Amino acid sequence: MNGPHPPSDALVLFGVTGDLAYKKIFPALQATARRGNLNFPVIGVARSGWNRDQLLERAKASVTEHGGLDPAAFARLESQLRYVEGDYRDPETFRRVRAELQQATRPTHYFAIPPSMFPTVVEQLAGAGCCDDARVVVEKPFGRSLESARALNQLLLKTFPERSIFRIDHYLGKEAVQNILYFRFANAFLDPIWNRRYVENVQITMAEEFGVSGRGKLYEETGVIRDVIQNHLLQIVTYLAMEAPSSMYPEAVRDEQATVLRTIRPLNTEQLISGQYRGYRDEPDVAKDSKVPTYAAIRLHIDSWRWEGVPFYVRAGKRLKMTCAEVRVEFKTPPPVVFKEPAPAAGNYVRFRLSPQVAIALGARVKRPGEEMVGDPLELSLVEGLEQGKGGEMDAYERLLGDAMEGDATLFARQDAVEAAWAIVDPLIRDPHPPYEYEPGTWGPREADRLVAGVGGWNTPE
Ligand code: BG6
Repeated sequence: MNGPHPPSDALVLFGVTGDLAYKKIFPALQATARRGNLNFPVIGVARSGWNRDQLLERAKASVTEHGGLDPAAFARLESQLRYVEGDYRDPETFRRVRAELQQATRPTHYFAIPPSMFPTVVEQLAGAGCCDDARVVVEKPFGRSLESARALNQLLLKTFPERSIFRIDHYLGKEAVQNILYFRFANAFLDPIWNRRYVENVQITMAEEFGVSGRGKLYEETGVIRDVIQNHLLQIVTYLAMEAPSSMYPEAVRDEQATVLRTIRPLNTEQLISGQYRGYRDEPDVAKDSKVPTYAAIRLHIDSWRWEGVPFYVRAGKRLKMTCAEVRVEFKTPPPVVFKEPAPAAGNYVRFRLSPQVAIALGARVKRPGEEMVGDPLELSLVEGLEQGKGGEMDAYERLLGDAMEGDATLFARQDAVEAAWAIVDPLIRDPHPPYEYEPGTWGPREADRLVAGVGGWNTPE
């Protein structure tokens, strides 16, 4: 997508020796090079005691492990990669960043560093004259609560205008998530039924088979609500629930997303069941009496003309039965006056599988062959079981990095939406309840079934 502002002419990557760069950013840069789009220098910054050769070794290991080494594309990345070693508190580090920028005047600064470092880095960048016409990319978490999100934003706004701040929520860059938006507004048949008159309930499940995988320290500070619900899953809710954007003008989509978030009632503890997997407290860096939830199921109410009375259920957890993310929009069943068969477990629905495969399917009932007028559930598959990343589509980080360099903020979280999302979950964070324990490898605590008792239970992905 093209942005209204000139593209950036350099990428400055703070935290270049860290985990995020290793897992996501180097592979995205190699992919950018493969497409012939790595036309800007990449200046890595870190304090690790490394030299450029060591950084290159690390970059090579990163792409080899994540997607595979492409020698030609990697050579391009190598030719563009520069390295500044230094302390973020030392102005000299930033003078060297400025020097490495050479002719570049419109850099994008990517903060792959802990938020506690943001004030120092922003101040130093400004002091070294690296902020004029610059953009900044920040990773979630955007604060830890409504209040801290506002404070973080105030800090960034002192130096960067809102249009230059790019808050990455990598779910928005996923092809399958984009397809929700496309599928909704490119198909006429959905439009008349996508509302409270026909939709019975909406369920979003983000399940992960693995645990906190060595991120115990970080997870102790976040928990599942801050980690994936306040951001990734509420963003998916906005795509499912929003009104048609007036156009593809960059702010049109984000305006509608923010409107949805503002119409979701702040949650109370009656709408939440939280859980913690057995064994979480034995993970490294986790408190022996930790009450941090690794699972949460919530029921959302959207106070809008379209959705009044339609529950949106969102659940997410670690160490669940499988790894997958799925959305299911379930329609009301027709009155049982024509066919005298028992109420079917599955009626009509739209199913979006977001990961690890990408799928879109429509659920319907068809007559079972034979004399009786009884039916069976059947799925019409529109996109089937495509492995994520195998359809030639862009990885989320490649797409988002490219968009930030171009100045297109459509797929980034806007501050008002971030604040509205915090306002929804803030009451739960302020008043945490002890989570129920659940067995690893299950679908979470049984108590979560209570939430969905009125709609026939969870639609559990298979
Ligand atoms: C991250 C969370 O934002 O998203 C992780 O911090 C989570 O806890 C991850 O595992 C999931 O991302 P994906 O793209 O693998 O579904």
